Amino acid sequence: MAIILGIETSCDDTGIAIYDESTGIIANELYSQVDMHKLYGGVVPELASRDHLSKIIQLLFNIIKKANVSLNNIDAISYTNGPGLNGALLVGASLATSLAYALKKPVIQIHHLEGHLLSPLLDNKNIPIPFIAFIISGGHTQLVHVKKIGQYEIIGDTLDDAAGEAFDKTAKMLGINYPGGKELALLAKEGKIDYNLPRPMINDNSLNMSFSGLKTATYTLINKIQKNNQNNELLEQDRKDIAKSVENAITDVIVAKAVKASALLNINTVVISGGVSSNDCLRLKFNQHKELNVFYPPLNFCTDNAAMIAFAGYTRLKEAQFNYKINVKPRWSIESIL
Ligand code: KG4
Ligand code: ZN
Repeated sequence: MAIILGIETSCDDTGIAIYDESTGIIANELYSQVDMHKLYGGVVPELASRDHLSKIIQLLFNIIKKANVSLNNIDAISYTNGPGLNGALLVGASLATSLAYALKKPVIQIHHLEGHLLSPLLDNKNIPIPFIAFIISGGHTQLVHVKKIGQYEIIGDTLDDAAGEAFDKTAKMLGINYPGGKELALLAKEGKIDYNLPRPMINDNSLNMSFSGLKTATYTLINKIQKNNQNNELLEQDRKDIAKSVENAITDVIVAKAVKASALLNINTVVISGGVSSNDCLRLKFNQHKELNVFYPPLNFCTDNAAMIAFAGYTRLKEAQFNYKINVKPRWSIESIL
């Protein structure tokens, strides 16, 4: 039974996890840098890499202790090799390859989005393949035709902002700190009015999406509401209504594109992953589509983590190599991983 150590450092989460073929994830350590980046309104790449560097060794010690596994019993080390921030990726790649070299273990380079895409399989091995994967995160919004594990075709993409980015940028307009998606979703739960913001490209024939126009539309809406208020400020209920309107617009587009992809490919299994996949409103809307068989990652593995990288490593164990050359790929298409 194989045991894989996975390392994730592509953006602002430092993660290490151990996947055991017989029992699943046996330890998972995650350090989020969000409190630091919050001060700047977004991820500062240089600070991200320095922070990964200062935390990662401690996480490694923690995980060995928690998993009660000797490093010598690990069969392979998988790590995120891209896409992501160059310096941040280098920290994970350096630790993974130097550790593997010292232990004489093979390494497996994992595409970050493949990690997300496979994460729903962490607690459900019976998802039928082929399936349609919808990766909805802060950096990506991609529809992928999963022909088999390792063979992916991008069938839809955002032309500009990612869905998570649209959540974060509109949240910022409502005074919510980065990354605002989760907090905006909480506000939206108490919203009463839907201002019917535009749902760009919802009815076009392609599977592509566009979310950047939503920022301008939200900005215009905020100004209009403020002007009608006595002291030119948003009331708390206005913020909730705007949040609801934003959330409805984004999630309507996502669901419509998934439904379209399913009809075009004649595949009804849809696997949703990435930070936005934890959104309750999105899940409720998908639940209404009984023609789709929808799967999600466990809630704690929707956003970036190393459990998904360790698991992806397990699925590609055959490709593990004793090649310790570091070659991170900040830009890397999921179509060209093999
Ligand atoms: O997958 P992830 O951790 O990072 C990337 O690889 O980009 O996703 C983070 C994104 C952020 O934009 C965050 O605001 C969004 O996921 N997010 C949410 C929710 N939870 C996280 N967006 C909407 N509703 C949520 N509940
Ligand atoms: Zn991610």
